[in-house]
Amino acid sequence: MKKQIDWNALGFHYTETDFIIRADYKDGQWSKPIATTEKYIPLHVAATALNYGQEAFEGVKAIRGVDNKIRIFRMQDHALRMQSSAKAIAMPEVPVELFCECIELALQKNIEYVPPHDTLASLYFRPLLLGTSPRLGVGPGDEYTFIIYASPIGNYFKGGFQPTTFIINRHVDRAATLGVGAYKVGGNYAAGFRATQETHRQGYGCLFTDALTHQYIDECEAANFLGIKGNLYLTPDSHSILPSVTNRSLMQLAQEMGLEVKRTPILVTELATLDEAAACGTATIIAPIGTIIDPDHNLTYSFAKHTVCEQLYHDLLAIQHGEKEDKHGWCTIV
Ligand SMILES: Cc1ncc(COP(=O)(O)O)c(C=O)c1O
Repeated sequence: MKKQIDWNALGFHYTETDFIIRADYKDGQWSKPIATTEKYIPLHVAATALNYGQEAFEGVKAIRGVDNKIRIFRMQDHALRMQSSAKAIAMPEVPVELFCECIELALQKNIEYVPPHDTLASLYFRPLLLGTSPRLGVGPGDEYTFIIYASPIGNYFKGGFQPTTFIINRHVDRAATLGVGAYKVGGNYAAGFRATQETHRQGYGCLFTDALTHQYIDECEAANFLGIKGNLYLTPDSHSILPSVTNRSLMQLAQEMGLEVKRTPILVTELATLDEAAACGTATIIAPIGTIIDPDHNLTYSFAKHTVCEQLYHDLLAIQHGEKEDKHGWCTIV
């Protein structure tokens, strides 16, 4: 393991690793992946990724377990989601086998960057699919590059399972109602920067609402929203929400805990009826939400406990760390 890295000091920031993996698509064919230490790619100034945002990405984690084995979490599901993102913006799909081969190669080539088990840190992979054809006329290209880079990331809950505060945003939409919000494409993220910069300046996370009515909960920045109400696990149903792999896993675990899981549009006003609220995603698993401020209606929703969320967090963490049986085969052991 890399001795010069202070694993406990890592956050969700880019830390350089040794190799990136790259495969190119040309004449309808994917090349064999290569590993290279070169982190810059030559890109034509007229590339469709640069000019028209023809770009999609993913986020996948590898974790060192209690048994010292390394587990990659739901790699095939991330591959399938990248395929749906590719289709959404007229790019060729990366075959699932190629995606998984590249992740495994990225892991092997950067294995010294997988953090020690007890730090709860992990090695994060960022697969990218870029349109590289030069095109001045607006439209998709026919050449693409698939890249995976890796960066170790820290345990989000170093200071304990601390609740955060979100503020409801009705002034900037991250994605249109029937747009590409359900896909992991770069444009959705840049579209939200104006809103998140502003809420971060105020010290809050940004809770996006639906673009049509601004009455329903959409996304918690780059995470799905979930709420617990008695025996119910609630999460928004919307065309503009990214189908989170973490949320899908938590829904399964919630059902196994005896909760009823409901995916349904959630009105902002329904926050008053929830016992617990949280954001979920690969980086954090679950980030409990203590307060949600609705500045347009001068309302504040508070959530004092996060008992169910904490149990779900520990359940999923235990599966990822090899401390609990992986009944659903979510982990690829390397
Ligand atoms: C917009 C958005 N929503 C939700 C998520 C959570 O998804 P996942 O659990 O697959 O990381 C992410 C992160 O990938 C995201 O970018």
